[in-house]
Amino acid sequence: MKTKITELFGIEHPIMQGGMHYVGFAELAAAVSNAGGIGTITGLTQKTPADLANEIAKCKDLTEKPFAVNITFLPTVNAPDYPGYVKAIIEGGVKVVETAGRNPEAVLPYLKDAGIKVIHKCTSVRHALKAQSIGCDAVSVDGFECGGHPGEDDIPNMILLPRAHDELEIPFLASGGMADARSLVASLAMGAEGINMGTRFIATKEAPVHENVKQAILDATELDTRLVMRPLRNTERVMNNTAVQRLLEKEKKLGKDIRFEDIIEEVAGVYPKIMMEGDMEVGAWSCGMVVGLIHDIPTCKELIDRIMKESHHLITQRLSGLL
Ligand SMILES: Cc1cc2nc3c(=O)[nH]c(=O)nc-3n(C[C@H](O)[C@H](O)[C@H](O)COP(=O)(O)O)c2cc1C
Repeated sequence: MKTKITELFGIEHPIMQGGMHYVGFAELAAAVSNAGGIGTITGLTQKTPADLANEIAKCKDLTEKPFAVNITFLPTVNAPDYPGYVKAIIEGGVKVVETAGRNPEAVLPYLKDAGIKVIHKCTSVRHALKAQSIGCDAVSVDGFECGGHPGEDDIPNMILLPRAHDELEIPFLASGGMADARSLVASLAMGAEGINMGTRFIATKEAPVHENVKQAILDATELDTRLVMRPLRNTERVMNNTAVQRLLEKEKKLGKDIRFEDIIEEVAGVYPKIMMEGDMEVGAWSCGMVVGLIHDIPTCKELIDRIMKESHHLITQRLSGLL
């Protein structure tokens, strides 16, 4: 399947694995890229720019195909060394960067000068238009369904994607709630040039996370995510668990007086314990509503091949059969 995104990134299939904290390591990024999609190393999971440089080198040992690095600009307790991370990306010869969170304008000139393609992940048409106006090559449009940070507008992809298609000139990926061929074909119909998946890629053989995380995804339904940190305007969609229940109780009790410090125990520094040690109740971890559609743990290649094969069938049999 050829789309503007497969052309832009030089990949075989229009499927991207979005950056995921403590999930997007070299092993997963390389597995997705080797399967013909494009995998992403999560920059800020690496503690220093030197660590990121090592992770990029490791990924290059595992694949000759293009892969991406994610740089997330989100409110964090201590601001990371962004210029250092950008330098590691450029010196590492990375071809694609996924930016997310705040406007990436400050780092864009450096990335563009190095010939890197930039895809900015955003949750609204206005932010997508801003990304287009500052020179991003593409955007990932993340609907309300998505795991992670859906923004504050709460517009699901059935509306957001056609709206993006109406307004944008640059190509865009549909992100949030994507799991299978139905997601891909529907997204293409709504004007996207492919899909970006997070949660679905955690439940793959190569995702370097504890088996408890994969099992939690298999056990959950579409009813099992919650929105946290809404009063702080830093909304995150997470898997429900006892820590999340505690966090939501605090939000209810403290109302608009709540501060980040009040919920630090449930959100700060919990990812290594969850993703590496499998301690599933220790804190809040991002997870999309799409868990309701995830019932197996394939390899990345099995997953991507299945999506492409079934998409072919959906387009040539089901859809053209309706005419
Ligand atoms: C566990 C997890 C961690 C994530 N961490 C990040 C991150 O650090 N930076 C980022 O830009 N997006 C992050 N995301 C969002 C994903 O890149 C992607 O946009 C999102 O998962 C898409 O929605 P889906 O989960 O429904 O596929 C994360 C998502 C998950 C599930």
